[in-house]
Amino acid sequence: MGTIHRAGEAAVDRQRREGATHLPGACARLRAGVALAAALATTLTAGSAGAEERAPTSETSIGIFYQPDAPALTDLWRPGEPGEPLALRGRVLDVEGVPIADAQVEMWHADGAGQVHADRYRTRIKTGPDGSFGVRTAYPGHIPGAPGVWGARHIHIVVTHPGHQRLISLILFKGDEMLPGDQPADLAIFAEQGRVDGESMRFARVEIVLERE
Ligand SMILES: [Fe+2]
Repeated sequence: MGTIHRAGEAAVDRQRREGATHLPGACARLRAGVALAAALATTLTAGSAGAEERAPTSETSIGIFYQPDAPALTDLWRPGEPGEPLALRGRVLDVEGVPIADAQVEMWHADGAGQVHADRYRTRIKTGPDGSFGVRTAYPGHIPGAPGVWGARHIHIVVTHPGHQRLISLILFKGDEMLPGDQPADLAIFAEQGRVDGESMRFARVEIVLERE
């Protein structure tokens, strides 16, 4: 039924990231902030922005951990928590490839150790004029004992915008050995591993396509 188009590996701005690794910094928090800014400031490549028709993103079930009214956070990562930070850039488009501004993007997921928290790793943000959004969060871990796709690395999303159908879906990750083979192929994105100030970090991009009402 649809596609999260993989803006993909080519869209990860390696140059900016490598630049971030060479910034001087006496303060870990400052360095983290600079790295975040570099990751989030990455400009979408022209190649991913064409006004070509797209299939709407595949739908999934919402799972059992959804909570409405999450805070509007763009930096959910706290140094010292398990796993790696993930810089996730995304864009919401309609089926003709036109960016959807002011769409609401809700996201929630487990921490890097696969633990789900009531008050962590949940956000509800809006897309900008170019349909883009960005967050720094945790690269979600495998969820111990959970069946099927619920045990794989995943980020839940609910995307809403007036005039478009609400989308309930998942972001999955290519190469995840826990990912069942029967999931819609369009949902899996590539999370490139890099290093910022000696710390491992993931970088990923996603395109989300909404159907009109
Ligand atoms: Fe889940």
